[in-house]
Amino acid sequence: MRLLVTGGAGFIGANFVHSRVRTAPQDRVTVLDALTYAGSREALAPVEDAVRLIEGDVADADLVDKLVAEADAVVHFAAETHVDNALADPEPFLHTNVVGTFTVLEAVRRHRVRLHHVSTDEVYGDLELGSTQRFTESTPYNPSSPYSSTKAAADLLVRAWVRSYGVRATISNCSNNYGPYQHVEKFIPRQITNVLTGRRPKLYGSGANVRDWIHVDDHNSAVERILADGQPGRTYLIGADGERDNLTVLRTILRLMDRDPDDFDHVTDRAGHDLRYAIDSTPLRQELGWTPRHTDFEAGLRATIQWYRDNESWWGPMKDTVEAKYAERGQ
Ligand code: NAD
Ligand code: DAU
Repeated sequence: MRLLVTGGAGFIGANFVHSRVRTAPQDRVTVLDALTYAGSREALAPVEDAVRLIEGDVADADLVDKLVAEADAVVHFAAETHVDNALADPEPFLHTNVVGTFTVLEAVRRHRVRLHHVSTDEVYGDLELGSTQRFTESTPYNPSSPYSSTKAAADLLVRAWVRSYGVRATISNCSNNYGPYQHVEKFIPRQITNVLTGRRPKLYGSGANVRDWIHVDDHNSAVERILADGQPGRTYLIGADGERDNLTVLRTILRLMDRDPDDFDHVTDRAGHDLRYAIDSTPLRQELGWTPRHTDFEAGLRATIQWYRDNESWWGPMKDTVEAKYAERGQ
């Protein structure tokens, strides 16, 4: 298969490319990535001989048209992804997430190429703390932030292109990922690298907010299943029953790193902070036979901590800039 992976130099996309090169070595994989602050050539270094990396904007219609014309399928990861950045400056989110997805859709429509669009559970808004409710494929869209509203817009464009033009596209909405190559702006790597650089971890508000954690390899194995056997037009929710509140996750990191459980700062809460996410992934499991493999969260965290210990050359150069930006925002 000739596969075009947008955003393949970012966290989830790079892990996807690594595993695809291992499991389907006969594929020809092209990555289109703008190499923003969130993307890096180094994330693809382990597979550089097996992958063609094109540096470019997913909203560049001529470039995207040319690359899609050469592909059998597109997996669309490229996005601006960080909620705090969207609150500070939403414009790049509209450009990449909305115009970028529109650009991909127009190209796959012209060339009749299969598309898998990678999205987030944040399009559904949030759930009450303490409730047992979970998001399903029929939960109404109710995004809270500039980030999630642009992802919701992108999903709705995909649905409309399926219905109006018969584009062969699937969508997946996944919960919070963790694992290697996650940018140090995100919660788990930020706290790990704070400890590793002698800074105190930072918790927004009381830490009661709940996220439904999934290892990035489990997210990507689900994307593989959907790409292979998903039904065009369908939306699949991806989650691994990993609900935990932020304070618990932070205290687990502190324990695994031999720190005192109170060795962190409470900082200014995020505006409009979503309370709780939880995914019901029954249809994906029953219809496509997918199961997550990394269900021991503590083992996954331990391995992730070790990865950040071993790969300071990758994250070290970004750390000061990220923390300076957070400090300006009181976070
Ligand atoms: P990331 O921020 O680590 O990587 C995004 C990648 O997209 C980067 O390599 C960046 O350079 C690239 N990019 C940004 N703007 C671009 C543009 N205009 N043109 C081309 N490339 C561009 O993000 P991630 O965490 O790997 O997320 C990947 C996808 O998965 C996103 O669509 C995100 O919404 C979705 N998602 C993420 C999570 C999560 O927990 N991280 C959960 C569910 C869904
Ligand atoms: O649910 C899927 C989404 O998960 C993806 O669509 C997003 O792209 C991804 O960034 C992630 O969004 P969150 O906002 O949930 O992730 P983040 O890592 O920014 O924060 C996780 C939780 O931790 C959230 O409740 C905010 C909190 N937090 C975050 C940071 C960076 C802290 O308490 N302290 C921090 O320093």
